[in-house]
Formats: sequence, C-alpha cells, structure tokens
Amino acid sequence: MTTLITEPAAQAAPAPATVHDVPPVLPVVGADTLVPLVDGRQVPYANLDVAASAPALQAVADRVSRVLPLYASVHRGAGYLSQVSTALYETARRTVGTFVGARDDDLTIVTRNTTDSLNLLAGCVPADPVTGERGRVLVLDIEHHANLLPWQRVTDATVVTGGPTVSATLAEIEEELRSAAVAGRPYALLALTGASNVTGEALPVADVVAAAHGAGARVVLDGAQLVPHRRFSLAETGVDYVAFSGHKTYAPFGAGALVGRRDWLDAGTPYLAGGGAVRRVRTASTDWHEGPARHEAGSPNVIGAVALAAACDELAALDPRAAARHEDALRRRLVDGLGEIDRVEVVHVWDDAVDPVGVVTFTVSGYDPGLVAAYLSAEHGIGVRDGRFCAHPLLGRLGFDAGAVRASVGLGTAGEEVERLVSAVRSLVDEGPQARYDVVDSLWVVVDDPRPVPEGSGLEGLLATAALGADEAFGCLPDDL
Ligand SMILES: Cc1ncc(COP(=O)(O)O)c(C=O)c1O
Repeated sequence: MTTLITEPAAQAAPAPATVHDVPPVLPVVGADTLVPLVDGRQVPYANLDVAASAPALQAVADRVSRVLPLYASVHRGAGYLSQVSTALYETARRTVGTFVGARDDDLTIVTRNTTDSLNLLAGCVPADPVTGERGRVLVLDIEHHANLLPWQRVTDATVVTGGPTVSATLAEIEEELRSAAVAGRPYALLALTGASNVTGEALPVADVVAAAHGAGARVVLDGAQLVPHRRFSLAETGVDYVAFSGHKTYAPFGAGALVGRRDWLDAGTPYLAGGGAVRRVRTASTDWHEGPARHEAGSPNVIGAVALAAACDELAALDPRAAARHEDALRRRLVDGLGEIDRVEVVHVWDDAVDPVGVVTFTVSGYDPGLVAAYLSAEHGIGVRDGRFCAHPLLGRLGFDAGAVRASVGLGTAGEEVERLVSAVRSLVDEGPQARYDVVDSLWVVVDDPRPVPEGSGLEGLLATAALGADEAFGCLPDDL
C-alpha cells in the first residue's frame, strides 16, 4: 500500500489537558529572542507562524557556517574551492531528492521555493498530443494561490470545488477525471496540496494517485506544508512531482525544490534562459541542456541548497513518530483549547479529515482578525498570521471572506507557546484588549505604541533586540500563562 508515513497512535491518544511542559523536538536558531510588549515588558517571542516561514534549525545554521569558508564559484570555476563548492551543491541536490524518495530517473531541480517550482512545472506540462492544445490540469479550490495561479496562467486549468467531506471531494475528483477521459479530453496533471496551509488537512494521497493514474493523469503535490511535517516519498506514494520550500523546512536560505519525473522536465521549455542551461549558443540557435541544468540558468544558490540538504538530513534522522506526536499534541491542544472559548470558531474544510499537520485557523467573533493578530503580538509577544492566507477561493467558500487568524507549530515550538496563545485568546474574549488599536493604512496598529518601531531602530538596534537571551526574560513572562 502507498502511504505517507504518519503516526496513527497519536490520533488515538486523548487530547492533552495542557502542553505547558512539552519541549521542542529540535533546537532552532533564535528560540530565546525577546520581543517588547506594550506594557514595557519583554518576553521570548512565541513564533506561531512557522507555516509561513520556519526558523532555521540550529544544525542548518551550523552547516552553513562550516560551508561558508569553502564557498566559491560553482560549475565553471577551475579553482579547487570551486570544485569543492560544485561538489557540495551536487551532493545537496542528491540529499534533497533522496529525502523525498526520488526514483532513480527523477530529477531534482533547485528552485527558490514552492511557487517557483510549480511555475516551472506549469511550463513543462505537455500539450494534448491529439489536439495540440494546452495540457489540461485539474486543481481543487482549496489550494494556495501558488498551486492555482500557475496552472490558470500557463495551462488549461479546471478548478473543482471540494465537497464537505474527504470522501465527497474524492468522488468529485474521480468523476471529473473519468468524464474528461471518456470525453477524449483527459487531464495531463492533477495538482493537489499535500496539506492545506489554512487547516493542515489533506486528501489521502494513495486514493488521489490511484484515481489520477487510472485516468492517465500525473499528480503533483504541493509539499510546502507537508514536507516539513511528515515523511513523504515519491517512490512509495507514486506521486509524480513534489514541490517544496526551504524556508518552510527550517532552511531559510532561499532555496526550494521541484523533484519528479524527468521526461516532461527534459522536454519542457527551459524555465530561465541564460548561462548554465545551454550546451551551445549561436546567434541564431541554442542547444539547451537536459537534466536539472536546463531549468537552473544563472549562478545557483549553493548555500541555499546546502542549507536545505542539512534540514533534510536532520528531518531524516528524526523518529517520525516522535515528531508527529509532538506536533499532534500541540495541534490538538490548540483546536481543543481555542474551541472551548466562547466566540471562537476553528476553521476546517472537511468533517472527516485525518492527521492534519500543525496548522490551526480560527476567528474570534466581534474582533477583526487583524486586530486579534496585533493584540497577540503587542500584549503577548505571539506571532501569528491573519488574512486569507493566499487561499481566497477556499476562505470565500467557507464563509471567511473577512479573513481569519492562523497559528502554526513545528519542530521548534514549545508547548508553553501554545498555552500562551490559548490563554491570550481567552483573555481577549473575557476582558478585551488592554491597549487601544486602530487601522492605519489597512493595518491594525496600537495607538501610541510605546514599542520601538522596527524600521526606525537601524541594524544595530534590531540586532541588540535579538541578542538578549531567555535568562533575562524569565522574570517577566506574562502572569496569565
Ligand atoms: C500550501 C502552500 N503552498 C505554496 C506556498 C508558497 O510557498 P512559497 O512562498 O515558499 O513559494 C505556501 C506558502 O505559504 C503554502 O503554504
């Protein structure tokens, strides 16, 4: 059977009453960083926005520091360090591919991020062999814009509205794939999220792959929220392509990846035109490379690739069950703790989703999501995301056009941060905010905010804030933890 490696036991365990003492799974850089509150105190930053960008694993930062002295021009440099750097880059590529279970003939292309990877693939979807028309792509309305707009712009995309349950949504996908094939207009590709960036939910990959392959379509998984949270294997699941981002995978050094089947990528229009992607250039003709180089014109991001590979090494060495247990305990505490508070609604797409990743979106009735996020930052030192999360169609369908608040957890999240959020939202509902807030230039801000304005502090001022350690903070945690 093809499955994602998940932790079924964690599903069965009762929801924890508190996760206050749950430690992070792995050390991340900056976990002790202090931020100012409006009441003059400083507290360790509770980074509950890791679904947007995750902090670097300490091991990733260490690897980058070790590699930097060896850094030199790659691929075309004759110098010794150029050769070392080239080898580092190509080794990193192999590590990244292996981490997501690349098959022998798959390509691993180093990109900037998931958006870049999906745009690249969109340009490689082959035209219909009979009609010569643009290749057809099927996509659900639950997707992040990165997994919607590239298909709409470059291919012939059909957007299917998901149903209220996983099984209803699967049935819709199967029916659409089948009827398109019967009508002689088969889909070339099904583009699906590995985990929703709004709710962490996902469709069962094995069922989706079976339906798509049965109708002659390939599958690309948007792995932006999946790969940092679950072990995933192309070879085991049969998924054809996966796209993901280093900055969400604890390696914020500007690299991401697209991994998958070679034929489309070798035949597709090179993503970028420029040096490194070509074998031979004449003024009237160009002979393009095949393989990853075809789509990686320009000087590659060696440090980004090395960092991403370091993150992959760390994640591969983790016990997946321990990591899933940690994340699941934090997620369920968020869902249960927030769900118990009057006027709080936790968003979900499906009634029967299993094993969502650590992303929890909610609203607090009577409070604009932007105000909730500003309050959490100003009065509790908590970073969350508010808005529509680049998933406008889904938020609209679920009735949250005014947006929502999203908290997300990862390997570096401590239970204390989750408890702080639950307690802060309860205080908001019970007592209201302590500071005054107003909208300025469409953003909720504190009126007469006493905190230093980050952009006015200059580099040294900003660095000084970050240099303070947790020891200095222990006396001044909020009382309401
Ligand atoms: C599910 C999903 N897909 C795609 C993206 C785009 O990722 P990136 O901004 O790294 O390209 C995101 C980012 O939040 C995401 O959560």
